[in-house]
Amino acid sequence: MTGVLVTGGTGKTGRTLTELLRGSGVPVRVATRTPSVDDPDAVRFDWDDPASHAGALRGVDRVYLVPPPLTTDPLPQVGPFLAAAERAGVRRVVLLGSAIVLPNAPGALELAAQVRARPGWAVLRASGFMQNFLAPHPMGERIRRHGEIRTAAGDGRVGWIDARDIAAAAAALLTDPDLPSDDAPGAGSDHLLTGPKALSYRDAATIISAQTGRPVRVQLVGVDEAVRGLRASGMPAQLADALAAVDARLGAGKEDHVSTAVLELTGRPPRTFAEFVRDHATEWVDPGAPEGRPRHS
Ligand SMILES: NC(=O)c1ccc[n+]([C@@H]2O[C@H](COP(=O)([O-])OP(=O)(O)OC[C@H]3O[C@@H](n4cnc5c(N)ncnc54)[C@H](OP(=O)(O)O)[C@@H]3O)[C@@H](O)[C@H]2O)c1
Repeated sequence: MTGVLVTGGTGKTGRTLTELLRGSGVPVRVATRTPSVDDPDAVRFDWDDPASHAGALRGVDRVYLVPPPLTTDPLPQVGPFLAAAERAGVRRVVLLGSAIVLPNAPGALELAAQVRARPGWAVLRASGFMQNFLAPHPMGERIRRHGEIRTAAGDGRVGWIDARDIAAAAAALLTDPDLPSDDAPGAGSDHLLTGPKALSYRDAATIISAQTGRPVRVQLVGVDEAVRGLRASGMPAQLADALAAVDARLGAGKEDHVSTAVLELTGRPPRTFAEFVRDHATEWVDPGAPEGRPRHS
């Protein structure tokens, strides 16, 4: 193998993936809109600037694909990129997809289908990230500022996954030496990635409170109010509508799944929510509390 282009290379999964690949001696190119001069592996890459794509693809034969964020239709940008990747000799793409399908986003499903159709390529259908409970995600920001989670999901449960375990699964697939030939029969693979246990927002809040001393309450709201809250956080309206509708699906128990894929791909069980909280315990400190101590309200 020649190297891996890590799109979203500065993001939650991409950053950890880059560390893991470097640790295995794999050459990496870290795609970002703002490459640092201090990182010789950083390469300028912008989904909105197709002219940046060919340069980023130079010298790699594998790609970790994080689709453009904040859009419900990634295909207009990702389709031409995948065609350019194939022309450049890329033999494996690992797509970060989602277990939870947004109701108004058929383009995301179509992208996953296109990736899955190619021999040796892979789709990761990741469950909700544990990192959503941390700032700067709007939910994490609300917990940090107000000690509160607002949700329309009721007591619906999600198999929350630590983004570091998604990165580990991606690293396993991207460093697999076996690549099928271009004309091999069959299709790529599809992996539902979850944490070890499905938890409701109330379960998660209880664990954060118990481990950090910061009380976190759960305020159940209707879908309309959830939409208003997400829009007010600056999220594009279409995405806010879709995410609030997802809450309603969670509430109906439609995303209550766990899988063994992380263990199978990496040889290690996925991190528990309690481990995740322990590793980030200082990040929920109440900014209004004196000397950063938890404020019990
Ligand atoms: N959060 C969840 O629960 C969840 C669950 C399943 C799947 N996902 C999927 O995970 C993916 C990552 O989402 P995230 O919110 O966690 O983001 P993230 O990966 O932490 O950060 C976004 C990344 O995208 C890059 N980026 C932003 N705009 C870009 C552009 N115009 N061109 C090129 N790169 C750009 C950023 O790089 P620079 O700023 O350095 O350019 C950054 O590395 C999304 O596709 C989401 O659907 C999320």
